[in-house]
Amino acid sequence: MPKSERTLVLVKPDGVQRGLVGEVVRRFEARGFRIVGLKLMRAPKATVEEHYAEHRGKPFFEGVVEYLCSDPVVVLALQGHNAIRACRAMMGATDPADAAPGTIRGDFATSIEANIVHGSADTDAARRELGLWFNASDLVNGGSV
Ligand code: CDP
Ligand code: MG
Repeated sequence: MPKSERTLVLVKPDGVQRGLVGEVVRRFEARGFRIVGLKLMRAPKATVEEHYAEHRGKPFFEGVVEYLCSDPVVVLALQGHNAIRACRAMMGATDPADAAPGTIRGDFATSIEANIVHGSADTDAARRELGLWFNASDLVNGGSV
């Protein structure tokens, strides 16, 4: 049985700067995912550090945090069948050199840092990240899927 779930997607600063917000949102909507939360914001450093907490201590941690805070991001909550796994598949591999053509990163990304999008990795990450970036009251139907 396909299950309806919610996932957190970010359009990173390079995606916003390059005018790819519409293209990214179009792809997810065309695939059947429903927007249940959407905002443009300058991300607070504390939010981004928490968002990438699993990477704390890795060589790229400081850089990726600084990058995400450097310019506005678009924050999306998407809902649909197997949204977490399917949205990640639509993004492609983290390093655009490995991302298949037809994926967002495979079609648009220029480097591993400037790789256009973020998507929650699994159910626990999605719950945590949705709570970090959105107030439940700002999402369609609040916190319920
Ligand atoms: O975003 P994704 O879940 O595919 O990858 P990750 O391994 O969770 O890493 C988070 C983000 O850190 C990536 O999307 C890259 O932008 C960045 N990163 C990097 O700059 N250099 C690396 N060696 C690995 C990741
Ligand atoms: Mg990740």
